[in-house]
Amino acid sequence: MTTIQPHGGNLVNLYDPTLSIEGLHKTVSIDATSVSDLELIATGAYSPLTGFLTSEDYHAVVNDIRLADGTIWSLPITLPVKDRLAYSVGDTVLLDYQGDIYGTLEITDIFEPDQQIEAEKVYKTADRAHPGVAKLLDRGPIYLGGPIKLIRRIEQKDFAEFYFDPSETRQAFENNGWKTIVGFQTRNPVHRAHEYIQKTALEIVDALLLNPLVGETKSDDIPADVRMESYQVLLRDYYPEDRVQLAVFPAAMRYAGPREAIFHALVRKNYGCTHFIVGRDHAGVGDYYGTYEAQEIFSNFTAEEIGITLLFFEHSFFCKACGNMATPKTCPHSSEDHVILSGTKVREMLKNGILPPPEFSRKEVVDVLINGLQEKELAK
Ligand code: ADX
Repeated sequence: MTTIQPHGGNLVNLYDPTLSIEGLHKTVSIDATSVSDLELIATGAYSPLTGFLTSEDYHAVVNDIRLADGTIWSLPITLPVKDRLAYSVGDTVLLDYQGDIYGTLEITDIFEPDQQIEAEKVYKTADRAHPGVAKLLDRGPIYLGGPIKLIRRIEQKDFAEFYFDPSETRQAFENNGWKTIVGFQTRNPVHRAHEYIQKTALEIVDALLLNPLVGETKSDDIPADVRMESYQVLLRDYYPEDRVQLAVFPAAMRYAGPREAIFHALVRKNYGCTHFIVGRDHAGVGDYYGTYEAQEIFSNFTAEEIGITLLFFEHSFFCKACGNMATPKTCPHSSEDHVILSGTKVREMLKNGILPPPEFSRKEVVDVLINGLQEKELAK
């Protein structure tokens, strides 16, 4: 096993397919985000969480970025429902997603949060135009808290071979003899800037865990199946096979910028990574967060408390005058020489079949993306 300790000290394991649910009748219908949270709690990806947050932990997380016992935790992992009257503290309920029972929740708390405050604290805005805030406000006003059990795994329809639980990535790292592993979060295709910061990190660690998020994203993000194909092509052609592991991160995207960067780092620690990359506007959306806010927030905590080494990168780009990838830290030229395209612009180009320049994204990647997006359009 990699020597890095899971967050809080122990890797949580709450999966028990043999658990008897006889005699349990009350069910809670849960959404795609909750079922993915349920599974990620149970497999230890969210260690030390053992359930959906109770009000004590919830308030500590929202106000102080910590659980009630002081352990750092940045996103409130809650189970929202619409109706308070259907449940009582002490009930053990079945968690139903689209007609199948995935687990149980022992309700130890039922509370009505102030979601405006939650939005302001977690997302730094209560603006409904923010996709994370809109989802928060739409999911339900009452939260059920308490310990969970997972009894059924979510079916892996696409790219099943890239699903690994934290215990499995830890084992794989050990089998490969990797002692230092850098985790990379993305909800996008890997463009040259991503590749540059990954490979810069690879110069100083043993291996890279390319860990794209494939849970729910906003509708204009590039779909996970298209991205997965593009990652495989890029790794095949441009990365050393024996130093990279591709594995999906099946969580929903929150777009919570700085708060989500902490969450992403802690979760990658649970997967066994020793290092984690945070670049420009990590997990950001629109103009809600400053370019480096997701790096700055870590200064509120000690390195011991975070427990995974952060690798911060400035905005990287191809510089025509340098003739290579660079950042403001390494390039003396002006922005006229820099090939910079916004995510929105790139998505628009790809949708219209226009190739972004090779300095921005590798042609092999762009071909996969354009074909994939066109197939989706045709299938509509
Ligand atoms: S997200 O999941 O963090 O929203 P995104 O693909 O935008 O995904 O970014 C993945 C990681 O690369 C983040 O750490 C982000 O800060 C970093 N990143 C993205 N683009 C750049 C860039 N041009 N320069 C430096 N870091 C970047």
